[in-house]
Amino acid sequence: MAEMVMPLDVTANETLVQQEAEAIERIQELRPILGDDVVILGHHYQRDEVVRFADFQGDSYQLSQEGSKVKAKYILFAGVHFMAESAVVLGREDQVVILPNMQAGCSMADMANLEQVLTAWSELEDVLGADPENVVMPVTYMNSAADLKAFVGEHGGTVCTSSNADGALKWSFAQREKVFFFPDQHLGRNTGKAMGIPLEQMVLWNPFKPYGGLTDDEIRNAKIILWRGHCSVHQQFRPEHVDLWRKHHPDVNVVVHPECMMQVVDKADFVGSTSYIVKKIDQAPAGSKWAVGTEMHLVNRLKNKYTDKMVELLSPFSCLCSTMYRISPIDLANVMENLVEGRVINQITVPETVKRNAKLSLDRMLSIPR
Ligand code: 13P
Ligand code: SF4
Repeated sequence: MAEMVMPLDVTANETLVQQEAEAIERIQELRPILGDDVVILGHHYQRDEVVRFADFQGDSYQLSQEGSKVKAKYILFAGVHFMAESAVVLGREDQVVILPNMQAGCSMADMANLEQVLTAWSELEDVLGADPENVVMPVTYMNSAADLKAFVGEHGGTVCTSSNADGALKWSFAQREKVFFFPDQHLGRNTGKAMGIPLEQMVLWNPFKPYGGLTDDEIRNAKIILWRGHCSVHQQFRPEHVDLWRKHHPDVNVVVHPECMMQVVDKADFVGSTSYIVKKIDQAPAGSKWAVGTEMHLVNRLKNKYTDKMVELLSPFSCLCSTMYRISPIDLANVMENLVEGRVINQITVPETVKRNAKLSLDRMLSIPR
């Protein structure tokens, strides 16, 4: 029997395009009405139709720094859930943080939860025969839930982002012998390697196995215990992609985000946060060629802006952060419309004790020199 092919619903797509165009017009009308009461923060990965409305655009470090200084009562966060939570923690009591689409999370942040981290901590205590706090510094990547930041804050540790992981590790090793780094194994490994820590001393903790699937000796000899988490977008970049670019364009510059696997970072010319990538390409001479290993919306924006340079995605396939993409102009118009009518929807909140302890680790991060 012939296979039935479902026709593409072209009208549904046209309706969405039309709705988004109307939403953009609506945002333009609503923005002046909301005035200084509202500030819109946007991450580099947001799509153009959303980020064009951001009063401030940046990487997650810059957004948390900016978020802590915002005067406006309402912060509309065009980013993902963990970023909005951090804005709540760093913001004032009377401020309201709104995430235009509550489904905008981060799959990497979901790879570590408090229960798993508490289990790991007590297993480390068991093996090391001491309060882990005397030996191990917990460091959480910004891409984690607020209760993990609170755990880290309570145990003397710090948050880090892709732009200051090196400083966070140096700060940690100045105080304790080991680092427990979660949830991104790649950022932890790439940073540790750049600091000269041998690979054998960076072990991988599998949260689904007792004692992380490690032997006592592996734990005792480790300098960095890396959580088995990763970014599903950045893991799509492979070392073969770098080889391919170099084969066809020997003069290409390869710049990647440190969430890429070590084999990709090792082959790249430059590695850094989203803002580092933006700056690198902005400052590059006309005619230079760039293959970029990070989320495609940012790469496409750079490609369209710097037409005098060649800017392409490192991978031949689309590398889309589908959770960032969940925020559409329709969502942004919706939360703004509600605000104009005096209603707050999609407010992000953090329980008081979590907030207090998470603030400790975020404040430490902001005070560590980069
Ligand atoms: P940046 O801190 O470099 O903006 O990265 C955030 C992120 O989620 C990358 O995937
Ligand atoms: Fe999370 Fe990866 Fe998306 Fe960044 S790109 S928000 S780490 S899923």
